[in-house]
Amino acid sequence: MKIVVVNGPNLNRLGKRQPEIYGTTTLVDIEKLVRAHADKAGVELDFVQSNHEGVLLDAVHAAADDNAAIIINPGAFTHTSVALRDALAEIADGQGYVEVHISNVHAREPFRQHSYLSDKARGVIAGLGVYGYVAALGFFTQDLTPKDA
Ligand code: DQA
Repeated sequence: MKIVVVNGPNLNRLGKRQPEIYGTTTLVDIEKLVRAHADKAGVELDFVQSNHEGVLLDAVHAAADDNAAIIINPGAFTHTSVALRDALAEIADGQGYVEVHISNVHAREPFRQHSYLSDKARGVIAGLGVYGYVAALGFFTQDLTPKDA
């Protein structure tokens, strides 16, 4: 099984950006953490971050061609991107995706409480900090059967 972890805009700034909201763990630290768990579970992992919507779409398309599952923190594109939703629909028809937010978006500004992606996700994790990525990986690695099996 292959899992692609996709991170959207500004997540390359983790560790520096609003640490009171997002903590001090960097994206490099998160990649190391998730990779350690993926190695242990014996799954192939790709890790992608971009500030550019088109690059994220390309990463989702590549994951669809590989029949991969996705763990995605879409950053602010969560609340704006129909294009990302449309790309992820293909993943939803395959292995599925889990939407992860480091912060509890439901306890923040009203505009963060709408996601274009959540209804097609297999699950949504918000507010558990960087553990959310590990929890999402745990979900996919403990349930390797296709969702319609
Ligand atoms: C975020 C929440 C989004 O609202 C925000 O735009 C982000 C990060 C989170 O991980 O909590 O960039 O996805």
